[in-house]
Amino acid sequence: MENNPWLKHFFPLLLTFFFFSPFPLLQPSLALQSDDTYVRQPPRQIVDTPHRRSKSDPQQVHISLVGKDYMRITWITDDKNVESKVEYGKVSGKYDATAVGEHTSYHYFFYSSGKIHHVKIGPLEAATTYYYRCGGHGPEFSFKTPPPNFPIEFVVVGDLGQTEWTASTLTHVDSKDYDVFLLPGDLSYADSHQLLWDSFGRLVEPYASRRPWMVTEGNHEVETFPIIYPHGFKAYNARWLMPYEESGSTSNLYYSFDVSGCHIIMLGSYTDFDQDSAQYKWLESDLGKVDRTKTPWVMVLLHAPWYNTNLAHKGEGESMRKSMEDLLYKARVDVVFAGHVHAYERFTRIYDNKADPCGPVYITIGDGGNREGLALMFENPSSELSLYREPSFGHGRLRIVDGTRAHWSWHRNNDSDAYVADEIWLENLTKSKSCWLNTQDNDGSKVNKDEL
Ligand SMILES: [Fe+2]
Repeated sequence: MENNPWLKHFFPLLLTFFFFSPFPLLQPSLALQSDDTYVRQPPRQIVDTPHRRSKSDPQQVHISLVGKDYMRITWITDDKNVESKVEYGKVSGKYDATAVGEHTSYHYFFYSSGKIHHVKIGPLEAATTYYYRCGGHGPEFSFKTPPPNFPIEFVVVGDLGQTEWTASTLTHVDSKDYDVFLLPGDLSYADSHQLLWDSFGRLVEPYASRRPWMVTEGNHEVETFPIIYPHGFKAYNARWLMPYEESGSTSNLYYSFDVSGCHIIMLGSYTDFDQDSAQYKWLESDLGKVDRTKTPWVMVLLHAPWYNTNLAHKGEGESMRKSMEDLLYKARVDVVFAGHVHAYERFTRIYDNKADPCGPVYITIGDGGNREGLALMFENPSSELSLYREPSFGHGRLRIVDGTRAHWSWHRNNDSDAYVADEIWLENLTKSKSCWLNTQDNDGSKVNKDEL
């Protein structure tokens, strides 16, 4: 039979054509609960974002929340003599405050980064626009601080990349105001090609310099190389410094922060997470300190999803789930966002592979626009835990209305900005009395399941 030329050559070719056809209508229709006539989006080209400013001007400017009422301004200069200082104020062109920070740089084989500046500014007033200048040179930027209380709106996008789809996603994101950008891993898809980190920084600057971008790492941030760079994350840690020290973490790969009544935990799928690990112990401690009267909403972001019915990356988050799911469940985490799978999928509330009204809602939002394209293949039949799944580029929005309700919506890039492809109202878990019975000693095994 192996000598049969049809089986040996033609059949595999036919399969290849079927699954990777340039004609989307010939591809298998695998999305559920979406219009069968919907045309899937093929990958698009990488966008080149050139450096057009002087060597002393800031480039790749982005901001991040760093403790209550403070913002970290990060930028890069080719000129190593530029000072790490930020001038800022509430009136354009009039800077009545100055802050001086730190700088770093790194080498990766033959690549040498520019001077990477990190400056913490504040204290800042909530819901206020600030104007700022970096290093005493170049253009003025501005940002708005998050509101002091609800409502607050988050944009959530994973696996962003720097393709024409990325640009489309960011344009859609920018069409409606929001407060904080959350990215559950896979930023630039530089994959050790360091110049792509620079072009990514320039591509996102118009957005990331105006609203805080809070990120965690994905597999494309690792960039290890045997013997020479065994620990990885050189570019990511230097460029995307997050408030890990402020949250008691010892690693930039996992941290937490509070904003406007929300406690947000950014976990690391690509560092140790077993029960003896520093990350596990930190997470246990961090969850133990959450005061739900101050931050009723608790959300977690990580890269490799714990629940996933796509054939792509199936099971890759399983060992982390087995290690850490109990901690999240006992703490009554409201939502877990993941990326990695290049599609959108929303699950019901889950604990240990079963629907559970006291477990988190799980959402995969890895459809930001990366160069690898979409993850088209979902398992069939679907799981009853999966409520909506579709391989299309897009972004999500979580609008926390108050301490009780939040609205989640998913927006496809191929639709108009106002069109909502999927949406759900979430009720905060602190409002469910039955979910808190017998949990005082933080032992989930004593939760009264009869009451759930
Ligand atoms: Fe990934």
